[in-house]
Amino acid sequence: MFGLSSLFSSDMAIDLGTANTLVYVRGKGIVLNEPSVVAFHVKDGKKQVLAVGEEAKLMLGRTPGTIEAIRPMRDGVIADFDVAEEMIKHFIRKVHKRSTFSKPKVIVCVPHGATPVEKRAIRQSVLSAGARRAGLIAEPIAAAIGAGMPITDPTGNMVVDVGGGTTEVAVLSLGDIVYARSVRVGGDRMDEAIVSYLRRNHNLLVGETTAERIKCTIGTARMPDDGRGAAMQIRGRDLLNGVPKEMEVNQAQIAEALVESVQQIREAVMLALEATPPDLAADIVDRGVMLTGGGALLGDLDLALRESTGLSISVADESLNCVALGTGKALEHEKLLRHVIDYAS
Ligand SMILES: Nc1ncnc2c1ncn2[C@@H]1O[C@H](COP(=O)(O)OP(=O)(O)O)[C@@H](O)[C@H]1O
Ligand SMILES: [Mg+2]
Repeated sequence: MFGLSSLFSSDMAIDLGTANTLVYVRGKGIVLNEPSVVAFHVKDGKKQVLAVGEEAKLMLGRTPGTIEAIRPMRDGVIADFDVAEEMIKHFIRKVHKRSTFSKPKVIVCVPHGATPVEKRAIRQSVLSAGARRAGLIAEPIAAAIGAGMPITDPTGNMVVDVGGGTTEVAVLSLGDIVYARSVRVGGDRMDEAIVSYLRRNHNLLVGETTAERIKCTIGTARMPDDGRGAAMQIRGRDLLNGVPKEMEVNQAQIAEALVESVQQIREAVMLALEATPPDLAADIVDRGVMLTGGGALLGDLDLALRESTGLSISVADESLNCVALGTGKALEHEKLLRHVIDYAS
């Protein structure tokens, strides 16, 4: 039997990512997964929301002068408060059935480095979208729970969440954060690196959407053993004569384009290990490092990091969903995980 509360409430957990927003509903799991993008119509200096999520992402890089498509969370912090608020409200309303009697409780995952002002803004947006209570959970904790790590044990656990705008490296023990650092390298930086590599080496101009597609199709963090790897056809504009051009790119080229991004992730891991107290660092050497987030899916990222750090590295199951699943788990097992949720009340 379901209790009345589970029938009538749609308490939810939200992963407000720089690239994707996921909503988990109590008892149901992940019910929404859309790009964190808002498109506006700009008229007489006033902004009117045109589309949010999937539909808005299709407009990125393709907007005429009167339409603006924005990623409000782009760099891992809130780049635009008003737009972020519109987006949060839109997604909550999309999920929350008006027929339910009670106002939902909402837990939102925020980057560990979010400022008090940003936290307050997120809480406020959630409340004004109709929530009864708004709780926050730190991203590394949610990611680790979602990846199934034993975060409440008295051992050191390192989780590396490679998102769109940032990579968050954290060491957890006894359910709390011992060390956390966010670096501005992630999927976006990789896309930009591919764009500039193609421009520099092949006089080919491609947009970020094309770069992302290349990355997700043949992207790799490591030089292929045969020095070339798989290849794909891409289209862009020839910078020399301005006309459309088609060419083939291979994995070796993309690996070269991504060297710096991968190197920065490696450095963040090594810095974290150095800053971790010796006993916990020894645990991490024993137990290895867990990668989560969409960026963890970059081809051979685990292998490249293993080779360059000497640590054992694994990619979490459902790495794109870890943060939402972990935030959802905190919601489902609130009594057990109470100490990781911040209600500020
Ligand atoms: N197969 C893949 N290979 C490489 N990168 C990927 C892959 N799938 C998704 N990504 C990248 O993961 C990033 C989004 O990850 P996500 O964890 O959802 O970010 P955020 O939490 O910041 O919203 C994007 O930059 C996307 O291009
Ligand atoms: Mg994320």
